[in-house]
Amino acid sequence: MDIMVSLLFVGALVLNLFGSNVQGLGVNWDTNASRQLPPDTVVQMLKDNGIKKVKLFDADPNILDALEDTDIEVMVVVKNVELDAMTNKQNAEKWVKDNVVKYVENEVKITSVAVGLFRPDVSDQVEDIADFLAKNNAPFIISIYPFFSLDMGDGGFPVDYAFFDGADGIQDGNIVYTNVFDASYDTCVSALKQIGHGNMTIVSGEIGWLTDGNKWANCSLASRFYNGFLPRMAANKGTPLYPRYIEGYLFGLLDEDTKGILPGDFERHWGIFDYAGQPKFNMSLGGKDNNKTLVGAKDVKFQPKKWCILKPHETHDETKLNEMPNESKSSCDFGGLATEVDEDPSKDQCKFNIQIKAYGQSGSDSDSDSDSDSDSESPSPSSHFTVVPPVALISLSLSVMTSLFFF
Ligand SMILES: *[C@@H]1O[C@H](CO)[C@@H](O)[C@H](O)[C@H]1NC(C)=O
Ligand SMILES: *[C@@H]1O[C@H](CO)[C@@H](O)[C@H](O)[C@H]1NC(C)=O
Ligand SMILES: *[C@@H]1O[C@H](CO)[C@@H](O)[C@H](O)[C@H]1NC(C)=O
Ligand SMILES: *[C@@H]1O[C@H](CO)[C@@H](O)[C@H](O)[C@H]1NC(C)=O
Ligand SMILES: *[C@@H]1O[C@H](CO)[C@@H](O)[C@H](O)[C@H]1NC(C)=O
Ligand SMILES: *[C@@H]1O[C@H](CO)[C@@H](O)[C@H](O)[C@H]1NC(C)=O
Repeated sequence: MDIMVSLLFVGALVLNLFGSNVQGLGVNWDTNASRQLPPDTVVQMLKDNGIKKVKLFDADPNILDALEDTDIEVMVVVKNVELDAMTNKQNAEKWVKDNVVKYVENEVKITSVAVGLFRPDVSDQVEDIADFLAKNNAPFIISIYPFFSLDMGDGGFPVDYAFFDGADGIQDGNIVYTNVFDASYDTCVSALKQIGHGNMTIVSGEIGWLTDGNKWANCSLASRFYNGFLPRMAANKGTPLYPRYIEGYLFGLLDEDTKGILPGDFERHWGIFDYAGQPKFNMSLGGKDNNKTLVGAKDVKFQPKKWCILKPHETHDETKLNEMPNESKSSCDFGGLATEVDEDPSKDQCKFNIQIKAYGQSGSDSDSDSDSDSDSESPSPSSHFTVVPPVALISLSLSVMTSLFFF
């Protein structure tokens, strides 16, 4: 299946329906978690933090409904599987009708549809894609993850170069780079220039730091990263080869506890907010005052404060205790080995967090919620295979490029 064909179908259908976009920070809102916060709660949280744009990895109707009548601009990513289904114009038309037009009519400010090209086989078509985008005045979207540069650099990568607070410069021609973000961005600018698109708008589609699951993942480094990155974004200075406003989408909004961990355990900890929508560290999205706190989700409904622990002095079968709990009383039985307690067994770093109530779950503590949430959630693929070590950037960033259409 020729990806260009799908791209052209979708692109031709969604172009030029909508006006221009506002400046402001965006976030990637992905939903691969066992429990979802209600979309309305998340939308309120976005508003409370002045977040003006979201990128969704799925045209989830519940989320799009919650974004109705807000000023939040929405970019919807078309999944590869969906793209594959768009082998003809009719299918593409149907997708656009079901996933875009309907919501635009309902006052959801969908400003763009992005097509995720997370496949190595498309790199030879990048030139065609860039031509197509340029012709339609659509930007090129790239994901840059300084974390991966650092982690994969295996000790050889200068740590400070992943951040924005004064690394020794690295000379590239007559430009001195002090951070890998600028260097990567400019690599992309140069690559596009080489194929005749030196003036193309480039969007930073995913950028962020993570807080657990890797030696470079903790709140203080995440805070260092964001508190260096955000003021730069706010200053609108761009990079040496792209000295202007950069549209940026932080990755990501919330922690996601069922996300695939093929790239590493850290995959579940990209949120600037935790699974319950609470801030993990201080940062100012406006980029001015590092000590400004993010505003957490309000009125979050948690499960009852009960924990399931091993009964003392019994032999036990560890594997059983690793099963996914299901909050029913009997789920804390394990053949008589475990017991339910009201006292938090958390100790030091080892926290036993209380899960939130599943979105759509009734207020009661009944045990009937175990399957009610699986249908309403439609999490999505994410793009974390977009590993971008500095050297390999040209080929990789081009192969993971996401193209986008304004309308
Ligand atoms: C490049 O883009 C900028 C900003 O969009 C525009 O002002 C300028 O005229 C463009 N230059 C060329 C050569 O197209
Ligand atoms: C965060 O990680 C860095 C690098 O591994 C480490 O030096 C630092 O002590 C960690 N900070 C915290 C608060 O754990
Ligand atoms: C979450 O991500 C995993 C791994 O990427 C994927 O297999 C799974 O389908 C996703 N979950 C849902 C409910 O979509
Ligand atoms: C965030 O900043 C507030 C106010 O300056 C401070 O009280 C709080 O401890 C900080 N939180 C974290 C996680 O650093
Ligand atoms: C943040 O708060 C700390 C401790 O109160 C202070 O030392 C630091 O200067 C503050 N940073 C900013 C950017 O205001
Ligand atoms: C949850 O508990 C109920 C009641 O014991 C049981 O029937 C069900 O199989 C459990 N579900 C899971 C996913 O363990």
